[in-house]
Amino acid sequence: MNKKTVDDLKDIRGKRVLVRCDFNVPLKDGVIQDYNRIDGAIPTIRTLLDGGARVILCSHLGKPKGEPVPEMSLAPVAPALSERLGTQVKFISDPEVTGEETRALAAGLKDGEVLLLENTRYRKEEEKYGKTEEAEGFAKELAALCDGIFVDDAFGTAHRAHCSNVGVTKYCGVNVVGYLMEKEIRFLGSAVEAPVRPFAAVLGGAKVSDKINVISNLLDKVDTLLVGGGMAYTFLKAQGHAIGKSLCEEDRLDYAKEMIAKAEEKGVRFLLPCDHVEGLEFSDGTERRVVEEIDDGWMGMDIGPKTVEAFRKALAGARTVVWNGPMGVFEFPHFAEGTLAVCSAVAALPDATTVIGGGDSVSAVKKLGFADRMTHISTGGGASLEFLEGKKLPGVEAADDK
Ligand code: 3PG
Ligand code: MG
Repeated sequence: MNKKTVDDLKDIRGKRVLVRCDFNVPLKDGVIQDYNRIDGAIPTIRTLLDGGARVILCSHLGKPKGEPVPEMSLAPVAPALSERLGTQVKFISDPEVTGEETRALAAGLKDGEVLLLENTRYRKEEEKYGKTEEAEGFAKELAALCDGIFVDDAFGTAHRAHCSNVGVTKYCGVNVVGYLMEKEIRFLGSAVEAPVRPFAAVLGGAKVSDKINVISNLLDKVDTLLVGGGMAYTFLKAQGHAIGKSLCEEDRLDYAKEMIAKAEEKGVRFLLPCDHVEGLEFSDGTERRVVEEIDDGWMGMDIGPKTVEAFRKALAGARTVVWNGPMGVFEFPHFAEGTLAVCSAVAALPDATTVIGGGDSVSAVKKLGFADRMTHISTGGGASLEFLEGKKLPGVEAADDK
């Protein structure tokens, strides 16, 4: 990566540094459900504090659409940060995000102190960067809180070009990426650009359309591609299989055929499920059975045991694995078997770098208890997908080149 990082910052003692994090964490009744993104942000913040900087943190949370929504306040994030940093992180509840009181607090910060701003999406300008004059103003207001030094560590948001990650860079003289950003790019980037082979990708999840460019891009790179989950049924239908009332994107059938042909042409081993756990209704308690061809009126909800075996064999010996998307409806315990088995097969690979990207596969890996056995669990959902598509991420591009 040819972008400047936190390590390139000089003389930060006494300087106010603005840090964009992705604290868009799942909340339930005000309680944080997953700390991956918070934990991921700590190394950068700690380094800045150790260097004597005065740190101002900002992030979005959820989609409040330009107005204050109390359930989407960043307030719950402050105590989680304080606990991890061992120092009190001040949170300022400010519907304007950069209002008068916030500006005063930022100005009054002392060396080694941290201030967390309110949800940047409380401001309607946040998502309008490059589209409205007002957005330019908000980007300027954010930048004016610091001494011209901006650190972007929000990998999960890097596929967005908003005021708080891209806009501010126009008004700060020094723009670098944080350690989390660097780490994500290193793991996802080296997996895709310079993988130790054999390189296998496992793709799942509901929709082909979400992963269209990922499939095509990965087919240029991988040795093996395994496809399960809801998206597999569009491929199976394209091959002439019966799929009952399984998920299917009719308008992607031609694309599916093209991808099957591309795999053949590239010599990529491309495996689809050869058996399934089908259910009558979309519920955990529904009647279910294992079949090789989906019956009329039934839907495929997990990969079957023969597929698990075939996938396990195909993964054996892999040295790099990228996994995105569950193999079935893992939220329902009766249909979680396939995802669990693939998870355990990936986790057990002796010499592999295993990278898990994407919201659902990350929650699957965590829920099933395999998180600490993977090399890297990405904090990016959409961002990691766009990265795997080979796209340039605006949040990364906006940082200064080395
Ligand atoms: C995410 O969780 O995908 C990121 O934080 C970006 O959020 P968004 O999809 O609401 O833009
Ligand atoms: Mg998202």
